[in-house]
Amino acid sequence: MSVVSSVLSTRLSDASTTAFGVTLDPELRSATKPEFGHYQTNLALRLGNQLSLPPREVATRLVAALKVDDLCETPAIAGPGFVNLTLRSDVLATAVNARTAFAPRGERVVVDYSQPNVAKQMHVGHLRSTVIGDAVCNVLQYVGYKVVRQNHVGDWGTQYGMMIEQLLEESLDPETLDLQGLQELYERSRRHFDSDGDFADLSRLRVVALQTGDPATRASWQRMVDVSLADFEQVYARLGSALTREDVVGESAYNDDLPVIVDELERDGLLTESEGASCAFLPGFVGRDGQPLPVIVRKSDGGFGYSATDLAAIRHRVKTLQAKRIVYVVDHRQALHFDMIFTLARAAGWLPPTTTSEHVSFGTVLGPGGKPFKTRAGGTVKLTTLLDEAVERADALLADRTGIDRAATAVAVGIGAVKYADLSSDRGNDYVFDLDRMVAMTGNTGPYLQYAHARLCRLLSKAGATGGAVTLLDDPVEQRLALLLTGFDDTVVQVAETLQPHRLCTYLYELAAALSVFYEQCPVLTSEGETRASRIALCAATRQVLQDGLGLLGIAAPDAM
Ligand code: ARG
Repeated sequence: MSVVSSVLSTRLSDASTTAFGVTLDPELRSATKPEFGHYQTNLALRLGNQLSLPPREVATRLVAALKVDDLCETPAIAGPGFVNLTLRSDVLATAVNARTAFAPRGERVVVDYSQPNVAKQMHVGHLRSTVIGDAVCNVLQYVGYKVVRQNHVGDWGTQYGMMIEQLLEESLDPETLDLQGLQELYERSRRHFDSDGDFADLSRLRVVALQTGDPATRASWQRMVDVSLADFEQVYARLGSALTREDVVGESAYNDDLPVIVDELERDGLLTESEGASCAFLPGFVGRDGQPLPVIVRKSDGGFGYSATDLAAIRHRVKTLQAKRIVYVVDHRQALHFDMIFTLARAAGWLPPTTTSEHVSFGTVLGPGGKPFKTRAGGTVKLTTLLDEAVERADALLADRTGIDRAATAVAVGIGAVKYADLSSDRGNDYVFDLDRMVAMTGNTGPYLQYAHARLCRLLSKAGATGGAVTLLDDPVEQRLALLLTGFDDTVVQVAETLQPHRLCTYLYELAAALSVFYEQCPVLTSEGETRASRIALCAATRQVLQDGLGLLGIAAPDAM
């Protein structure tokens, strides 16, 4: 909401225009220390520099021209010429009480996330994409965008020809296989393919049958897809992800568009034949060896690859889904792929200047000791095993609590801890999957914030009637909490722009920290009269922001824990 801070910014630049005929962005910041008030600006220093005037003199003239009586205490000039502003406590109180929803913007954002692969278990990389993607969607929706989720499931390619051929050879009904069974089938078919030329030929024919829509082949493929999606959906349900079957628009969905992609690129003169493959070479993309890097649109065997599918997806998202912004939540190893795809899509005119595209890249999840995350046997760690462990830890944490639904709370806390750990560090960084740290009740963790929320719920239920307004903010500690509350919407807007959910985590952590200082210094239930009512209202507003913030991150906020 911080409508107040944007009004202050306008007033400051107006003052600068009036006093000096120069309009500069005041770059208003939160004060670094409580004794500097609530906000500060270095506008006078920059003006002084520009006009060759002593900054303190500039500050004095600026403050003289500044009209903020209706919002602030008397502005103060500090140090070499900073202007410090302190909101009047009634203004701050009004700002806390006046939270309003964002107006819908109508613009559509397509968010491509989660994207597991059929016949393979989801791994920790898919966990990151799912968790970050959900948070990004929630935040974009909150600030008014129309969000379209697209789960670009890997469900197409030569391996399915191989797998179906293997199914037929073993006379297996795919219905009898679970995801693990499918993964093993894939491994058997791979070995078979590599060692038996006849089988390899049959597999290639099977791929053609799949791509041209042979009914029996399609039916086997569909069953593999269904088994896999059912498994993914169980993971989504455990994670509390918003993704549904409707959001699945897998690679296969673009099959019929792929020849069109090639035709259009050809028509625009963007394709070159290279070693039998149809490639696009884009200016500025060269490999380590200095050789130009191709986007391979059609392989030498005539098949289309991952890149062609992504080009078709962009075209669809702009033309049909009317996207103004397309966001890809995919790990950092695919940065070059997206850079090239975006460049080529722009050159081909599929991605017009009115639509932006962003790769929301993220680092790797590491195992204990910062090593690659593998089981002792060297296999990939199953996501569900990790979630089970997190819930067990959370359950142990709640061992001595009474009067709570322990099983449900353990799920909320355990899953919340994993998600929060994923979201709270800069997504570009790698992080170590350390359950001890994730479920800790202190520090910047999910359980710490959930506990802050639950404690407020308990206080408010003891307080009796709530729903009143904040009317008194006499104590600087109360003011600090109130000021933070007014910054919630600004923080969410920042996350919507930068797509960095950790900024919201940092904000919530600071809020919870300010809350605990408030508890120490400002009695709530034992205070009286208007002070008591106002503090209860401040607690209620804080509880609401904690719940909303955790909600945007996709994390449950239990009433008790
Ligand atoms: N399925 C791919 C993987 O697991 C990620 C797909 C990313 N999205 C996209 N539009 N290419 O690596």
